[in-house]
Amino acid sequence: MIWLIGNKGMLGTEVETLLKNRGMEYVATDLEADITDMERLREFAADRPISWIVNCSAYTAVDRAEEEPEKAFRINADGPRNIADLAKAKNAKLIHISTDYVFDGLKEGDYAEADPPNPVSVYGMSKHRGEINIAEIYHRYFIIRTAWLYGKHGPNFVATMLRLFAERKEVRVVGDQFGSPTYAPDLAAAVLAIILSGSDSFGIYHFSNEGRISWFDFAREIYRIAMEKGLVTREVALVEITTKDYLTKASRPKNACLSKEKIRSTFNIPVRTWQEALDEYLEMGSWKWGQIFKLDI
Ligand SMILES: NC(=O)c1ccc[n+]([C@@H]2O[C@H](COP(=O)([O-])OP(=O)(O)OC[C@H]3O[C@@H](n4cnc5c(N)ncnc54)[C@H](OP(=O)(O)O)[C@@H]3O)[C@@H](O)[C@H]2O)c1
Repeated sequence: MIWLIGNKGMLGTEVETLLKNRGMEYVATDLEADITDMERLREFAADRPISWIVNCSAYTAVDRAEEEPEKAFRINADGPRNIADLAKAKNAKLIHISTDYVFDGLKEGDYAEADPPNPVSVYGMSKHRGEINIAEIYHRYFIIRTAWLYGKHGPNFVATMLRLFAERKEVRVVGDQFGSPTYAPDLAAAVLAIILSGSDSFGIYHFSNEGRISWFDFAREIYRIAMEKGLVTREVALVEITTKDYLTKASRPKNACLSKEKIRSTFNIPVRTWQEALDEYLEMGSWKWGQIFKLDI
């Protein structure tokens, strides 16, 4: 039985959809089984034959984390330690999701799994500590670092852009931070592929969609496709700005590009381009656009 933790989040919702559609045996929890509460986790797991734990829960408020580091560390570092403890007690395999924010972003090319982390934000530090905590406790883990995640079930850059395109005449977007967007259903499919592979090639893996772009490039393509699909019907001027023109509480890595070579070759996981994934996300009719415009991002 798979225990999906964080099933109400952007990624967790997609993982649950796949598990349900495939008729896989699973249980799913979110805040009702607080990952910082070891007793609660033990109690939940007690009578269940759990062979996999997939942890999609996290503290993901990157800027707010600068003001409440204790909370970020409690959820992103202590939580994964509890989950690893439990996985060990159950002899279950563990999939845990981490982030490109463990890196400082100063590398020129794509980040490989073996590149040394050096987080530059509280959120990044807390997620890195979570990785370390897991590795110190238990070896049967797959940690998947991802970046620039977007999907139908949570606040994200694409949804924000669509809202701004509807509200403003001019939208300013940072053009000197680079990365590869990740469509949540694609990452969910990678999680499932790892489970189904039966592989014991434990360790850290990177996953995002393919291609290197700036946030500005991303915004431009969102606008182009949204116009094409009739999601946006008005002229909006997109203005490229730099990081120093858009100050945020938390520093962000300038380069968030992750190499997918290891995950592709180990599990034979296909990685499609960010343009293909974005086009699917923006396809009208597949879900309700009204929902995302209500999100306070
Ligand atoms: N979003 C991104 O751009 C991004 C980029 C790189 C990596 N990641 C990583 O990808 C993973 C999934 O991200 P996501 O965007 O899907 O996250 P998300 O939408 O914020 O979902 C996380 C879920 O975990 C829940 N949660 C928070 N604290 C919890 C606790 N103590 N116990 C149990 N559940 C708790 C959250 O509930 P509440 O919402 O009620 O707090 C939420 O339902 C995370 O590990 C994240 O660090 C995300």
